[in-house]
Amino acid sequence: ATGDFSFIKEVDAVAICVPTPLDAHQQPDISYVKSSTESVSEYVHSGMLVILESTTYPGTTEELLKPILEKSGLACGKDFYLAFSPERVDPGNKQYKTKNTPKVVGGIGKDATEVAASLYRNVLNGGVYEVSSPAVAEMEKLLENTYRNINIGLANEMAIICNRMGINVWEVIEAAKTKPYGFQAFYPGPGLGGHCIPLDPFYLAWKAREYDYHTRLIETSGEINTAMPEYVVNRVMKVLNKKQTALNGAKVLVLGVAYKNDIDDYRESPALNVIDHFIKEGAVTTYFDPYIPEYKHKGVIHKGEKELTDEMLRDADIVV
Ligand SMILES: NC(=O)c1ccc[n+]([C@@H]2O[C@H](COP(=O)([O-])OP(=O)(O)OC[C@H]3O[C@@H](n4cnc5c(N)ncnc54)[C@H](O)[C@@H]3O)[C@@H](O)[C@H]2O)c1
Repeated sequence: ATGDFSFIKEVDAVAICVPTPLDAHQQPDISYVKSSTESVSEYVHSGMLVILESTTYPGTTEELLKPILEKSGLACGKDFYLAFSPERVDPGNKQYKTKNTPKVVGGIGKDATEVAASLYRNVLNGGVYEVSSPAVAEMEKLLENTYRNINIGLANEMAIICNRMGINVWEVIEAAKTKPYGFQAFYPGPGLGGHCIPLDPFYLAWKAREYDYHTRLIETSGEINTAMPEYVVNRVMKVLNKKQTALNGAKVLVLGVAYKNDIDDYRESPALNVIDHFIKEGAVTTYFDPYIPEYKHKGVIHKGEKELTDEMLRDADIVV
């Protein structure tokens, strides 16, 4: 690895895969893409291929990257190639890694698509699917992640309704799964986490507003998922109430703070908000996560338990 951008003078292809977070107003923060492209632009040279892999709103490659790179005096499609190919990574997935996951590629012009596709075909085994433009590739990535976001929102809404009706939501999902077509199982939980699924749909919602379209499904799913940590804490309060224990002062042990199984990534993890709610309600809250000994959230450092013991489990009023 190097932090020296002048190295780009020597290479034939550059892939940009910098973070694409949201700002304080839940709007796309494209500053990392912009600044890294500006750095690449200083060293872009004839015959070179530039690929954006960061998840972003449709139009970023053509509207933002192309003009920055052309400031070099070189013309896109003539002197250098520019394409978008979304990163597909499922952290913790034992079967699918970058190497064996199909890659979608859309370039500015057929030549750019072909050059980018042949680069990936040479290093990956999952196959490459070519589309007609970067915007199609940018949008298909947002469809993938919005699909997950909304279906998780639906699973959470089902959990809330089932609980009110006294129906076991897990049994319902297992039964629905027996249908061999037209149904994919999603599961309820304390909300959404990670750098992608909670954030990416807001890139689409933001861009859609430019076209006078309000993405209602995305907003509604966001509302349901964002409310889940508080919902979890309310459910815990009711469970404790049954054994005449108040949440205020109760010993709550939280197991796992990452946003999914067997990884050390706690970015946007709803567990952090669940813990914040417990603390706010006066619960004596501890956590254990073998992958995350401590984490920082809203400026506060939280230290986890070093190991999980039988005594800790016996001592807790509730384990979440
Ligand atoms: N992590 C995932 O599972 C995943 C999956 C699919 C898509 N994505 C997308 O990939 C992109 C990157 O996500 P990530 O999780 O890998 O982020 P990350 O924060 O883990 O890594 C980004 C890297 O970019 C570097 N960086 C930041 N600014 C830079 C600059 N100006 N110039 C050069 N390098 C710079 C950082 O040092 C860091 O190493 C995002 O758009 C994300 O939505 C991530």
